[in-house]
Amino acid sequence: MCGIVAVFGKENASQIVLDGLKNLEYRGYDSWGVGTPGEGKVEIEKQIGKISEAILPDSFPQKTLAIGHTRWATHGGVTPENAHPHFNEEKQIAVVHNGIIENFVELRSELRGRGHVFFSDTDTEVLCHLMEEYIDDGKTLLEAAQCTANRCEGRFAFVVLHYGENCLVAVRRGSPLILGIGENGDAYLASDTPAFINHTQKIHYIDDGEIVYLEDSKITVHSLETLEPIEKREVTLDITPEDATKGSHAHFMIKEIYEQKDTIARATNQDSQEIEKIAEEISKARGTFLIGCGTAHKVAAAGEYFFSMIAKKHVNTAVASEFPIFHDFLRPESLIIAISQSGETADVIEAIEAARSVGSTVLSIVNSAGSTVARMSDFSLHIKAGPEKAVASTKAATSQLTVLLLLAYACAGKLDDGRKLMVDAASLVNDLVNPRFVEFVAGIAKEIADQNNIFIIGKGANFPMALESAIKIQEVSYIHAEGFAGGELKHGPIAMIEPGTPCLVLVSSNELQKKEILSNAMEIKARGGRIIGVSSENSEIFDDWIRVPEAGAANPILNLIPVQVLSYYLALERGFNPDMPRNLAKSVTVK
Ligand code: AGP
Repeated sequence: MCGIVAVFGKENASQIVLDGLKNLEYRGYDSWGVGTPGEGKVEIEKQIGKISEAILPDSFPQKTLAIGHTRWATHGGVTPENAHPHFNEEKQIAVVHNGIIENFVELRSELRGRGHVFFSDTDTEVLCHLMEEYIDDGKTLLEAAQCTANRCEGRFAFVVLHYGENCLVAVRRGSPLILGIGENGDAYLASDTPAFINHTQKIHYIDDGEIVYLEDSKITVHSLETLEPIEKREVTLDITPEDATKGSHAHFMIKEIYEQKDTIARATNQDSQEIEKIAEEISKARGTFLIGCGTAHKVAAAGEYFFSMIAKKHVNTAVASEFPIFHDFLRPESLIIAISQSGETADVIEAIEAARSVGSTVLSIVNSAGSTVARMSDFSLHIKAGPEKAVASTKAATSQLTVLLLLAYACAGKLDDGRKLMVDAASLVNDLVNPRFVEFVAGIAKEIADQNNIFIIGKGANFPMALESAIKIQEVSYIHAEGFAGGELKHGPIAMIEPGTPCLVLVSSNELQKKEILSNAMEIKARGGRIIGVSSENSEIFDDWIRVPEAGAANPILNLIPVQVLSYYLALERGFNPDMPRNLAKSVTVK
């Protein structure tokens, strides 16, 4: 949700910033902007529209430091004025910012009262004017950034550039910020590592309450509270520049769907001792809460079924944004299992903070090993799916499900069985995701792309998968899609079935559930619905049969894959870019 990039100590810094922003497009694509020192002021180029199409004018200065931003609008509409970088009246100071400054209305009226003129509707702009005041008071850029941050409430990260000083300052308090260390004194700051992966793989994760100062060959990190220097640990990234590209695929979404051939196997390959140790924590916890947002929440809901069916263990599931309702039930002996691809989702972070404040244990299942969520956790399992850049989560979801399934088996004392199940399932995915299968599903997408409604039903762990399928279809194709437990339709929603309404039926491998979901499908068919069976076996009820291999308890994971493919082709049929759904951003770092 908004991407910030800054480059220090490198020729053509503006161009490197722009290229870095293009790799962060998934974080926001409403507008973009770049700023670099110019003659007597900061030179700024900013426009509305997608960063992927952005070009800097030939006349734009290419100095050795620059900052940039790709925006997902929170405060203020999508206009050139509201695009970052923002600046003070004289354009001496420019700022890019991610997150929200909650008290910006009060700060703005206070600053206006002292004569400041505002050029945008954003919360960010208060940072520029506050910086100006502190610098005018004789503070250094570092001190001014500290004082500015101390005036602001909320979660944010920002980078400041002053036209007359050969340095950059960045603050982190609640929103992600990563420092990349180049070979020759060059340095990079960004919301996520793909921004600078082409320049360095050596990084420092900046923590909340830290401030970074880049000047000549001096790269220092300080406490935001005291400005005392902080020693950081260097980490080498395990992603390559190729991981962050589309390769030969038209979109990241389809690339990532195909990658599930490998990613499920990688997620299965967890350290047995660690899984057993975490399973022990789950078994001894008094009150376990699985939490996540969006897709990660649907994964959590499937986890509830896995623990119940495989380990006979009851766990609670909650949408992270609703978790405050349950804070009163947290105890030191409770366990929170936070699921998050990015590890930066604000509602998930808030839930973890609540758990930590009462001493509950926190386990996270993340795709970004150095993320905030991972670093706040007592235990963290890395799903190892590689960068997921499409806004629609695909490979991360199936990898998260894999890890939860393994944990459920470990809790039942059968980790080896779980591992074997998933190794077999991973090889079945290899057979499933092939061009012939994809083409077949694309054919169904073509036939139903003009429908207004699509329904998805499932039973057992396929019920949350039906909910997840609905999210996939909605977010990339904008067709109204809804997922239901098969038995629920006749309690109301069946009224919406009209002749030809497509209904995807996610068939379980459990015999009883299979029988029941097919009978629910029959009820829809009797009202004229078009039944698209996602199943290992054909049935006369199906108008279309999407064949998935028989995968036992891993069946809900495999059932998801054809729906991901269908969603992708529904988006293409309807003329939308599946990688950039309207109104969305990949990582939701605001509440
Ligand atoms: C998935 O397709 C969504 N775009 C979205 O629901 C996502 O899963 C959610 O925002 C949670 O993100 P996280 O896993 O990074 O926490």
